[in-house]
This record gives sequence, C-alpha cells and structure tokens, in this order.
Amino acid sequence: MEINFTTLSMVIFLIALTFKLFRNKSLSSIDPSKLPPGRTGWPIIGESLDFLGTGRSGHPEKFINDRMHTFSSQIFRTSLFYESIAVFCGPMGNKFLFSNENKLVTSWWPRSLYKIVPSQPVANSPEAMSMRKLLLRFLKPETLHSFVGAMDCVAKQHLKTCWENKSQVLVYPLAKSYTFALAWKLFVSIDDPIEVAKLSDAFSVVLCGVISIPIDLPGTSLNKSIRAANFIRKHLHEVIKKRKIDLENKKASPTQDILSHMVLTCDDNGQFLSEADIADKILVLILAGHDTASAAITFLIKYLAELPHIYNEVRKEQMEIVKSKAPGELLNSEDIKMMKYSWNVACEVMRLAPPVQGTFREAMTDFTYQGHTIPKGWKLYWSGNTTHRNAKYFPDPERFDPSRFEGNGPAPYTYVPFGGGPRMCPGIEYAKLDILVFMHNIVTKFKWEKIYPDEKIVIDPLPIPAKGLPIRLQPQVY
Ligand code: HEM
Repeated sequence: MEINFTTLSMVIFLIALTFKLFRNKSLSSIDPSKLPPGRTGWPIIGESLDFLGTGRSGHPEKFINDRMHTFSSQIFRTSLFYESIAVFCGPMGNKFLFSNENKLVTSWWPRSLYKIVPSQPVANSPEAMSMRKLLLRFLKPETLHSFVGAMDCVAKQHLKTCWENKSQVLVYPLAKSYTFALAWKLFVSIDDPIEVAKLSDAFSVVLCGVISIPIDLPGTSLNKSIRAANFIRKHLHEVIKKRKIDLENKKASPTQDILSHMVLTCDDNGQFLSEADIADKILVLILAGHDTASAAITFLIKYLAELPHIYNEVRKEQMEIVKSKAPGELLNSEDIKMMKYSWNVACEVMRLAPPVQGTFREAMTDFTYQGHTIPKGWKLYWSGNTTHRNAKYFPDPERFDPSRFEGNGPAPYTYVPFGGGPRMCPGIEYAKLDILVFMHNIVTKFKWEKIYPDEKIVIDPLPIPAKGLPIRLQPQVY
C-alpha cells in the first residue's frame, strides 16, 4: 500500500501547529519509565508521517507491525498530530479497550466532527448513551430486513443505469454512488436521481471536512464542509416537516423508511425527536456508513476478480437463490439467510482490507495496563492491523480463505472490522445487507477482470485502489 501524499504533510503540519498553539500538556506527575515503550518522533508532528505511510514505514499496518516487533507486541507509545498515543495491540489490547468503555476510556473523534454536527453529544455523556440506544433501535435487524426488497430494487436500478451495456467501469466511484442511492432511499425515501446527485455532491464535501484542519475560516475544508452540512440539513428539515404532515394524514407509511421510524420514536424522556435531532442523526449515519460500505464493496469486487474459484462458489450460491424465485421477484430476508458462503467471503475481504483501520479512545483517568502507566487524556488506538494478518490467529494469513468464518469463526477479539464493545459499529446489519444485496446482483449479472492486475492500494484515509479499480465487464447469462 502507499499513501496519497500531495497535501498530506502540509495538513499534518498545520494540525500539529494548531494543537501546539492551543494546547499545553503536562506529564510532570508521571514517572517516564512507567510509560509504554516506544518513541515520540519529531517535535510537534511526532510520527504522523510514518503512521500515514509517507516515511520509512510505508503504511499504517507496517508502522504498527514494526513497532510491535521493536517495542512490544502488547502496547507501544507514539505521538501523532501532537497527541500522545498508546497503541493497544492484539486480542488482549482490543478486549481491554472495548470492555472498559466509559470506565477507563471513552471514544474520541476528530474535533472537526463536532463542528460539522454540533448536536453530536460528547462521547461519555448521558445524551451520547441515549443517542446510541436510539441509533441501535433504528438500525435493528427486524426493521432493516423489511427493507431487503427495496435494497434489491436500488441495486438493480443502479446496475441497469451504470453497469449494463458497458465494457469497462470504474468500481470505486460506482460503489459510492450505489451506497449513496441506497442510503437516501432507505433513510428518507428520496430516489429522484437529480435530488440524489445534489445531496450526494454536498455530502462528498461534508466528508472532506471530517478529517481536516479544525479551523473554520472561509476557504478551509472544514468551512466548506460545515456549509455543505447546513445545506443538507435544510433540505432534510423540509423532508421531515412534510413527512410529519403526511404521516398525520396517512399519506406516508410508518414503516416506509428509517425517517418514519425516527419521526414516530420517543427518546428516553418520552419526547419525540426534534427535526434538528432527526436531521443530524441521518447525517451521522450516512457519514459513518457511506465510505466504509463503498470500500468494502470495492475490495469485494477486487478479490472476486483475482480469485475465480471464489467467484464461482459465490455465483453458485447466488444462482440457487435466483432459481428459487419467480421471474421479477425481489430478494427478501429469507434469501439473505441463504447467503452464508457469500457473507463469509465478505468477512474475509474485511479481514484483509478492513475499511476502518482502527479508531481512537481517550483515557478518562490515569490507569495501569500491562505494568505501564497510561496518563489521563492520552489517546488510545486499536487497529485490526494488529491481529487480522497475524499467523497466530489466522494461519497462513495472506491466503484468502472464507472457511475461517465457518463454525465458531475467529477467536474473540481477533477479528474486529466493526470494532467492539459498547461502541461497536451500530451499522453492522445495514452494512451486511448492503453488501450482500449488491453481491447477489453483481455476480448473477456479470463477471469481470481487473484492468491493472497490480493496481496499488492507497490509504485516503480508507484503503482504496489507487486508480479506482477499473474493470472489464462481461455480462453473465442466467
Ligand atoms: C463495511 C461497512 C462498515 C464498517 C467496516 C464499519 C466499521 C465501523 C467501526 C470500526 C466503527 C468504530 C467502532 C469502535 O470504535 O469500536 C464504526 C462506528 C460507527 N459506525 Fe460503522 N462501519 C460500517 C458501516 C456502517 C454503516 C452502514 C452505518 C450506518 C448505517 C454505520 C454507522 C456507524 C456509527 C453511527 C458509528 C459510531 C458508533 C459510536 O460511536 O457509538 N457504520 N463503524
């Protein structure tokens, strides 16, 4: 893998400088010999360049592996973006962070996010807990499974418009436009292509600001992102207002999409959610779910192109489902249950190419882990990269082997593409349906080959093929 580095170093420098100007830390009360082993790198920028893959290390995975080898396979210290970081490694590290949420650690997101979604509650507040409960309610399997037919419709329409009658396509942007189309349809029943395109364009601007210098001045990515988020919010407010009226007049269904569920749901205090709350929740869900699912679909297509025997097995399973249905009949939740092999394939894709490299927590207090002191305020990082390709947990780790997920599957805390513990991704079931419905449609209609067999992978900040994964397409006959 390599990194898109054009403006990255400037961005890192400015982030670091911003932190430097506005923050002042003291570790005076901590015995330095008790801190985890590691190094802090350059003044201000620490080891950020190496972490992001621009220095010797090459990429974040190598950054982690090198330091696990040099310092400790359990925990090491580094410094990124002027933050002191402890990287917790292996299943024990994952377990520790995941099971100490709101006891010793709390989640930590880039500060830009709070500017883009100001109503996003502070991580360990009661409001955050209540918001998480609500998100889990809106994304619960029973609700989502009732949307499988609608998802199938979106996937079919997308393939018809963007893939059929083409001899070549560029996968990554198409995967993004499919996941956007799906999200607007399932969340708010918007399916007019012009409206979808307008909202999706604005959303791409929002996404650019999430990992950006946290300075809100005209012209900065964050400023553009905040303005784009306001545009989407305004649009959503109108949709929500209209939906409330339509629900009252029985012109809309209480179960037609996630918006109807949100409008009719009360929070812990028995209050209906405000329009502003609903709009922000939809923003957060699309922000968290869009690029991740697009990256998973892109890598799925990449691996299926490289591994014809896996493609054949997936197609066999999906064709059984096609044969069991009447012509034109859409997929339903029973069909999803039949896609066991296909889901194992998707899991193996996310083992080798986890869409999220890892996330941060923050130490709520000084505590001790593996004999080392972790000072309050330090940022703590976990990453699937410490276990996913480790031969101890995944024998012959470079081999693509979906059977790893049969039976009990991988050992606890070794396979973590969706994180874990109370903050585990609430979108996991949505992502599963999104990926499987797409997989069903694509393998039953096409086979394909990569145009660049050795296309590199870049981290941007999610892993993606450097050229967007162009492929040659051939239609499949039923
Ligand atoms: C393949 C697709 C996806 C992957 C790999 C993924 C992965 C993750 C990971 C690793 C986290 C952080 C967990 C932690 O820190 O322990 C996360 C958080 C989150 N994800 Fe996903 N995700 C995916 C799709 C989705 C979708 C489709 C949605 C929404 C529909 C979603 C909504 C969220 C939200 C709201 C959070 C924040 C949860 C919190 O802070 O409590 N994700 N996801």
